[in-house]
Amino acid sequence: MDILKSKENTLFKKIGMLSIEINCPVYIVGGWVRDQLLNRTSKDIDFLVLGDGLKFAEELGKKLGGAKVSLFKTFGTANIKYKGYELEFVGARKESYTESSRNPTVQSGSFEDDLHRRDFTINALTISLNQNDYGQLIDLFNGLEDLSKGIIKTPLDPDITYSDDPLRMMRAIRFATQLNFKIDKHSFEAIKKNSARINIISKERIADELNKIILSKIPSIGFKLLDESGLLSIIFPEFTNLKGVEEKNGLRHKDNFYHTLQVLDNLAQNSDDLWLRWSAILHDIAKPATKRFDNKVGWTFHGHEDKGAKMVPQIFKKLKLPLDHKMKFVQKMVFLHLRPIALTKEEASDSALRRLLFETGEDIDELMLLCKADITSKNEVKVKKYLKNYERVRERLIEVEAKDHLRNWQPPISGEEIMRTFQISPSKEVGIIKNAIKDAILDGEIENKHDEAFRIMLNKGKELGLIVPK
Ligand code: CTP
Repeated sequence: MDILKSKENTLFKKIGMLSIEINCPVYIVGGWVRDQLLNRTSKDIDFLVLGDGLKFAEELGKKLGGAKVSLFKTFGTANIKYKGYELEFVGARKESYTESSRNPTVQSGSFEDDLHRRDFTINALTISLNQNDYGQLIDLFNGLEDLSKGIIKTPLDPDITYSDDPLRMMRAIRFATQLNFKIDKHSFEAIKKNSARINIISKERIADELNKIILSKIPSIGFKLLDESGLLSIIFPEFTNLKGVEEKNGLRHKDNFYHTLQVLDNLAQNSDDLWLRWSAILHDIAKPATKRFDNKVGWTFHGHEDKGAKMVPQIFKKLKLPLDHKMKFVQKMVFLHLRPIALTKEEASDSALRRLLFETGEDIDELMLLCKADITSKNEVKVKKYLKNYERVRERLIEVEAKDHLRNWQPPISGEEIMRTFQISPSKEVGIIKNAIKDAILDGEIENKHDEAFRIMLNKGKELGLIVPK
């Protein structure tokens, strides 16, 4: 790799000049070097300074003019935002975690100390920005070879590296998933052995890694590794509870863990939306809690969509995922995930389609993608039939929507108009009338238009004993 040809070289030259001026060696290190070698672009660049990293960043900030420098004195790191880049500076250090603490104790160290304490050989590659060997790649731990063979390996004994910072166990699995690399055997053994240490890591950092796994091309790779290593049952036991197949009277149900992973991978081919991918993960989460065996029909999971939707907030809270509209979206997807499939069972009425459009609102396309991903039968004939039915429902939804515009449904008659017409104040009657209008539209009795809705309002009002004053 030739950094002289990289588009960042002008910036690197300036950093190199500063290193001469203040007599402080500096190297590019970590993810940016790895990503360049893999032909991936990255806007985050880490620099290793043999000296005071904070001072280096401050001086550079002056040279770059207008760049925003932030100093994190407790961690001994500095960040500069410059032309869309995030530049991170850190002084070389030895670092270790104490058994119980979440914060590293930081001691300064040599170039070698610093690289030894990094997570993986592929992340410990550096490029010198110094006068005598500017642009030279330094590879202390055969990172280049691991990069070409696709191996995740720690520079030190993996027990030490993972114990120093247990989040690295999640990072190993995340990189293996993103890059489609293998985790070295000893390293994976060490993850299994140290898995319980993940408990000292903050939930937010764990969620960050989990989300990166979920956003990968084939997320199941990561979840299978998380499961095998023992990490998944610690950080997300509700998910591993889906594992297993029970048999009774010769009837078996499917393994919902592997089914869910298949749904997630299917969905990942059609959508990059993190929250829709979370919906796939959680769509059957209440199956263990609702499982019954019925002598006539075999295994049932009645109400798992309803119970699953109710479980979403507590799971989000525990995993420190956002408790806002994103969670509400996931809840809605989990709650409605059976509905389009139910509509394929028999020729669905227009009214059933209208009701689905009304309940999903904006999110109908996402719900349909989730349902399509949920088709995981191994029987090709069945899959073909389901996909055909699914396409039919999709077409009919488009027809009904074009006619009735229920996606962003606004009632044709507002509560204010009802109160004004009957000269009443806010009361339950207003709600009853609004519902009657909504039902009449969804059932196809009237069109989604003001005058027809007005007629329903008058009829319902009369039924309720309301009068229209002269
Ligand atoms: N690092 C480490 N241990 C960690 C986190 C980071 O040793 N727990 C080191 C690695 O050398 C890593 C560098 O710090 O390459 C920068 O970390 P970070 O920006 O978090 O990760 P990247 O490797 O750049 O990758 P990504 O941006 O995909 O997270």
